[in-house]
Amino acid sequence: MAESMKGMKRTCRCGELNEANIGEEVTVMGWVQKQRNTGSLIFVDMRDRSGILQIIFESGAVADEFFVKAEKLRSEFVIAVKGLVCARAGAVNKNIATGAIEIRAKELRILSESETPPFPIEEDSKTKEDLRLKYRYLDLRRPDLQKNIMMRSRIAMLMRRFLEEEGFIEIETPMLTKSTPEGARDYLVPSRVHQGSFYALPQSPQLFKQLLMCSGYDRYFQIARCFRDEDLRADRQPEFTQVDMELSFVDEDDVMEVNERLLARLFKEVLDVDIKLPIPRMTWQEAMDRFGSDKPDTRFGMELKDVSDVVKGCEFGIFADAIETGGSVRGINAKGQGSMPRKKIDALVKTAKDFGAKGLVYLAIGEDGTYKTPLSKFMSEEELKNLVAAMDGEAGDLLLFAADKNKIVYNVLGSLRLEIAEKLGLMDKNDYKFLWVTEFPEFEYSEEQGRYLAMHHPFTMPFEEDIKYMESEPERVRAKAYDIVLNGIELGGGSIRIHQNDVQEIMLKALGFTEERAHEQFGFLLDAFKYGVPPHAGLAFGLDRLVMLMAGEDSIRDVIAFPKVKDASCPMTNAPDTVDSGQLEELGIGITAVKESTEN
Ligand code: AMO
Ligand code: AMP
Repeated sequence: MAESMKGMKRTCRCGELNEANIGEEVTVMGWVQKQRNTGSLIFVDMRDRSGILQIIFESGAVADEFFVKAEKLRSEFVIAVKGLVCARAGAVNKNIATGAIEIRAKELRILSESETPPFPIEEDSKTKEDLRLKYRYLDLRRPDLQKNIMMRSRIAMLMRRFLEEEGFIEIETPMLTKSTPEGARDYLVPSRVHQGSFYALPQSPQLFKQLLMCSGYDRYFQIARCFRDEDLRADRQPEFTQVDMELSFVDEDDVMEVNERLLARLFKEVLDVDIKLPIPRMTWQEAMDRFGSDKPDTRFGMELKDVSDVVKGCEFGIFADAIETGGSVRGINAKGQGSMPRKKIDALVKTAKDFGAKGLVYLAIGEDGTYKTPLSKFMSEEELKNLVAAMDGEAGDLLLFAADKNKIVYNVLGSLRLEIAEKLGLMDKNDYKFLWVTEFPEFEYSEEQGRYLAMHHPFTMPFEEDIKYMESEPERVRAKAYDIVLNGIELGGGSIRIHQNDVQEIMLKALGFTEERAHEQFGFLLDAFKYGVPPHAGLAFGLDRLVMLMAGEDSIRDVIAFPKVKDASCPMTNAPDTVDSGQLEELGIGITAVKESTEN
């Protein structure tokens, strides 16, 4: 039978007590972690979000009615205890903050009973994630998740505070809006009033924040929920949170500078980590050439080397073909891995193929300096030596080469580099390597759509000197876009925006928009630019990713209270779900076909 709290008032949280409180009478409330009954003594570990506290019920010292009640306590019962803070009679538990004290109970109420939970509520849970997500409200009781969720709150609060100090204004923008062309698929919301018409949930507040600049709200920010219907990964959810900002009358340096200070403040206050400013910058091209990635993990080396010139004349057809057709031959040096067993090398070849390679050539340098490689059939000892020298190869190293179009070579070697580093333990979670990646290409070609797409978004300013190539040679155009990368993860991105209608028009034309379609989709922005628009720029952080990295987690699901699983569903609520036929009728919607979900 659940009892009421009437007449009892909580005086503190469980984890807030320590030796300084000895002698005080306190009232604590929380969940039973576990109960042990020795006959004359009952020990209860009591938990709330601040920590764990040991309570002792001693037969004779506490009234019988309470002792009898304490005998009934089971895991996850919610209780209220009044008692005296005492020094621990037994051994001090150094693992918990309250390990030197215990509460000698005087009164106990059972506020709520609990069935046996489907999994134990404990740190480092071994329970499968699917089950935990089905009972997320229980999962969220676990101390490690509670720590993450509280850290998230603190980070958001500190960012808000910092931005306010720096003169930013927080403004909310609509959730029910029009699709913004950011690249991903939209989530649509049908309109009841305008049957056959749909709102789109925002992929980002991009257009609205630019309009706010037109309206004079220089330095806007928002902690904004964004929605993108794209394939999920460990660092991607269909709804996620951006710390979004926009500034007027600024250049790239201004945006980067204020955000560097924001990151430095956060890392100092939350993790006591000093970030050295300024954060290094690297152009997109350099990032691709050295790391095969536009979000390089710079915690370790193993950089890509272009050996096209070295192998140009060799008889290995695959190398020669790649170079002749405008591609390249590049390699990485897995230091000290020369004795990797054949099986493991084969696994790397398979991985390379998964990333789009036609193959992967290895060259293992023995401890005695001899080479083991399929290339020996095609290249002289001298040629091999030059190749090894170009790769800074030493005895005991393993060299891996890919030959193909640059895009594929970057992807294959960039991915292998990460995979090998992971296996070799080169990624230290407590080493925070920030990097700005700049000068992204303005356009990227989509084979699928047979046209150029904006790599960042259609409102990103090209380099002035490249504007002349926008229609003739789009690949040459560099964008005034920048990403902030931490340990190989894109934390945020932004750009200087186009604020001149003529440039915007060229941009839209290059992207294949007719004037009519451009006006249909975002005529309001183009119109706004006719009435006095300040030069402006901005950036958005992925808050989930930032918290994930600061909390040392591998998935953003571990820092989101109620995340979705891989097929974008929620195992707890069963969303998305069917709706009443009446609801559909009201919206004027008929379901023509139901596609069976193929995932999970
Ligand atoms: P962008 O599309 O790069 O830029 O998004 C900004 C940041 O948001 C995070 N992010 C995600 N996090 C979790 N799940 C997702 N599905 C997801 N998608 C993106 C990333 C990313 O760096 N309007 C521009 C910003 C600007 O130009 O100011 C924008 O949305 O960390
Ligand atoms: P094959 O001619 O397909 O038998 O390949 C001969 C060797 O070259 C094998 O070790 C392949 O893995 C490797 N290889 C094939 N294509 C490529 C490529 N594009 N880049 C690097 N190595 C390749």
